[in-house]
Amino acid sequence: MLISKLPNVGTTIFTTMSQLAAQTGALNLSQGFPDFDGPDALREAVGRHVMAGHNQYAPMTGLPALRDQVAIKVASLYGRQVSADSEVTITPGATQAIFCAIHAVIRPGDEVIVFDPCYDSYEPAMELAGGLCIHQPLSLPDFTIDWQKLADAITPRTRMIVLNTPHNPSGALIDLADLDRLASLIRDKDIYLLSDEVYEHLVFDGHEHASVLRHEELYQRAFVVSSFGKTYHVTGWKTGYVVAPAALSTELRKVHQYVSFTGVTPLQWALAEFMAAHPEHLSELAGFYQAKRDLFCDLLAESRFSFTRAAGTYFQLADYSEIRPELDDVAMSQWLTREHGVATIPISVFYQTPPAESRLVRFCFAKREETLRQAAERLCAI
Ligand SMILES: Cc1ncc(COP(=O)(O)O)c(C=O)c1O
Repeated sequence: MLISKLPNVGTTIFTTMSQLAAQTGALNLSQGFPDFDGPDALREAVGRHVMAGHNQYAPMTGLPALRDQVAIKVASLYGRQVSADSEVTITPGATQAIFCAIHAVIRPGDEVIVFDPCYDSYEPAMELAGGLCIHQPLSLPDFTIDWQKLADAITPRTRMIVLNTPHNPSGALIDLADLDRLASLIRDKDIYLLSDEVYEHLVFDGHEHASVLRHEELYQRAFVVSSFGKTYHVTGWKTGYVVAPAALSTELRKVHQYVSFTGVTPLQWALAEFMAAHPEHLSELAGFYQAKRDLFCDLLAESRFSFTRAAGTYFQLADYSEIRPELDDVAMSQWLTREHGVATIPISVFYQTPPAESRLVRFCFAKREETLRQAAERLCAI
């Protein structure tokens, strides 16, 4: 009789809602992926590199040209000089990077603090490593860290804290003062940091991304993870990276080498080439997505949903208390999909213990203008 190692894991809500959207023909604002393509020059480069014979294993740590581009970006955006050889590792997606970082340091019995609502891949990775996830809810309504509760949650067994900024699903940001607070809390403790920064370029209204890469003290104990999939509108390429101090990178690579060994070669060539030729892509990204957020929110202002504009990511939360307060968010998401043709994600699925009163659903606005207009029209008609 097979006893599952992950008895609590089933089909994710992202798969369920995307399937329901496909079955019902609803506009899919649920799962986080664009309904438009990445830059032509980037896609064209993949074909060219495939035809040029770049089809065999890339080095285990990633293509040197791509690691160099990551190091150049980290220096120019966050003022940190990292070694492309010993501190940057290319991975097949941020998810794999997260898995490897966790398995590099977590041992049976270790505790890992995550902030709820949190991305769904952290806990299963932790469980498989024998670790225990300690869920600390962010404070509502702004999804901020309760520092006293965090201090209380830290025990001698705490081995890692997982940060995610900009935050999925809320779009909330932490700032540099938060990083200082965190540093003072864990200064004398044997605690690592996993900083999930896959939405690092999607920070709006002139705010700055508080990357752990900016913070000298925290970086020394951190794995900082990002995703080319998010940044270049190619989520299906599943290509990401980790920046971590050499000693941590060495341990992470020991895991990465046996999970996948390396990332997909022609994709790495294409990304390296595109990053070198188009550095402006990064500086234009926040404006590109802010315009989508504003279009969607301006249109939704006519609806009975209430919301505060997302500060980052490509997700917008909306409160539906004035529409169907009697429905929980899972039922509401299904109702919106089936009856009104717009698929969303309920945010309770990102919690261990969802707040009972929460009436929030998440819309993904990484969509073409036409999709956003159609979705808003349907939502305003409710
Ligand atoms: C917070 C967060 N982390 C990690 C990932 C995974 O990124 P990737 O597709 O590169 O594995 C996602 C994707 O939705 C995400 O939202």
